[in-house]
Order: sequence, then C-alpha cells, then structure tokens
Amino acid sequence: MTNPAPVLEIRGLHKSYGELEVIKGVDITAHRGDVVSLIGSSGSGKSTLLRCCNLLEDSQQGEILFKGEPITWSGQGLARRPADAKQVLRIRTNLSMVFQQFNLWSHMTILQNVMEAPVTVLGRDKAEVEEKARHYLDKVGIGDKCDVYPAQLSGGQQQRAAIARALCMEPEALLFDEPTSALDPELEQEVIKVIQDLAKEGRTMMIVTHDMNLAADVSDTVVFLHQGLIEEQGPPDEVFGNTQSERLRGFLASTRRDS
Ligand SMILES: Nc1ncnc2c1ncn2[C@@H]1O[C@H](COP(=O)(O)OP(=O)(O)OP(=O)(O)O)[C@@H](O)[C@H]1O
Ligand SMILES: [Mg+2]
Repeated sequence: MTNPAPVLEIRGLHKSYGELEVIKGVDITAHRGDVVSLIGSSGSGKSTLLRCCNLLEDSQQGEILFKGEPITWSGQGLARRPADAKQVLRIRTNLSMVFQQFNLWSHMTILQNVMEAPVTVLGRDKAEVEEKARHYLDKVGIGDKCDVYPAQLSGGQQQRAAIARALCMEPEALLFDEPTSALDPELEQEVIKVIQDLAKEGRTMMIVTHDMNLAADVSDTVVFLHQGLIEEQGPPDEVFGNTQSERLRGFLASTRRDS
C-alpha cells in the first residue's frame, strides 16, 4: 500500500509581523492520527505557527501542504497571500480550530453555535447537521445543554461546546490553541478528558499547550519552539525523559515550578 500524504506538512515556514520575524524556518509533519504538541515559552511563536497552518495568518516563505496539496500563493514576501479562496475555505474547514477563549456566539444557543458553520459556510443540509451537532454535543458530555446560551455554561462546558463545534465541521484535523488555559484547574480536567478521548480515537491534532502532563499523555510528537525555531522535538518519552537541549531543560524546570 502506498503511504498516504501527511494530513498537514509545513516546510521551511517563515512569518514576520512587519520587521519582526517570529517564525524563522519551521518544518512540521502530522500524519493521519498523529497528535503533535507545541510547547515553548510565551512569545516563542506557538499561536502564530498554528494560525499560519490554517491560513488565519499569512506567511512569507515556505510551503504548507494539506494531504499533499500545496497552498498556492500569489505575491512574494510581505505581499504573499493565498491565491485561491476556495482552497483557503477547504483547508480552513478541514483544519478546525479551538481557541483559548472559546469564541462562541453569545446570542445563539449551544446547538445553533455548533450548527452555524456547517449550515452557513458549507451549505450542508440543516436536519443532517442538527443530528450531527447533537451527536457531537453528546460526545463531549453536554448533550443536555443544546438549548441554553453560552453564558449559562461553565467555562469547561463552553470549551467542550467549542470542541463539538469544531468536530461538527468533520475536519481532517483539529488545531487547539491553549484549550485549557482559560479554565480553573477543576474545569481543565473535563476538557483534557475530551482531548484524551479524541486522541484515542485516532484524530489528527496539533495542540499548543502549557500543560506538560497533557502533552506527555496524548502526543506522538512534542515540538519545543524557541524564538521561532524548533529547538527540540521527538516522542514525549524522549523530549521529557531524555531532554537534550539546555533551553528545554530550563523551560521544563520553570513550568514545574509554576504548577
Ligand atoms: N498581531 C501581531 N502583531 C505583531 N506582533 C505579533 C502579533 N501576534 C503576535 N506577535 C508577536 O509574535 C511573537 C510570537 O507570538 P505568539 O502569540 O505566536 O507566541 P506564543 O508562543 O503563542 O505565546 P503565548 O504562550 O504567550 O501565547 C511575539 O513576539 C508576539 O509579540
Ligand atoms: Mg499563544
């Protein structure tokens, strides 16, 4: 059998905000079923890298391939933009993002929030989407909250609704940016449990996290970013158990002190 193309491949990616280069040549590959965690200190470029992957941010150099299909660009350098709006939509739909701050619509019920993008962006059949939305809300343990508004839920429940919303797009991969860091510790666990279940199911995921236990538990690969470059990467046993880089050792020691 031929080896299928990775779900997501980034080659030699560079990204600047004006004069400030924040991603300085990064390669990452996520095959189907891989869980890749991005760790690193504040400002190292984790969120930027994740946002470049699903084209929420422009990048100036390097390639992004989705299932072997390269993003097509127009322009160069700071003027480089994705050339094909349909391709952007397809890729964004397939790399569904879960944000730290949930970003649910406050004027819509939980069910409406989960149904919104598949119906309005993808034009899917409303009845089918509703069935799926209820299924995913059940799956993340809040099937009884369909008809309430986000403000009536705890932070952990809101984040689980946001995960259901991402799942309802039926994406090839999920991208998480610090999914637990806006939550109280006791609510963090219920979201971590959902992420662990998704990992066990074999979902392809990229997770930016400050939670080293989560990274150690769910990842196939842990990537340590430092000032826009990969300083160290590997399976969690090696990255955490046999750390090579002095910087990563320092970073891990400081996160242990914090927690
Ligand atoms: N919209 C922006 N305009 C200008 N600079 C930005 C912008 N967003 C991020 N940066 C800069 O890019 C660098 C990387 O930021 P990024 O948010 O990716 O870091 P991070 O690793 O996610 O940090 P944190 O752990 O604090 O979330 C930082 O120096 C930041 O100040
Ligand atoms: Mg960030």
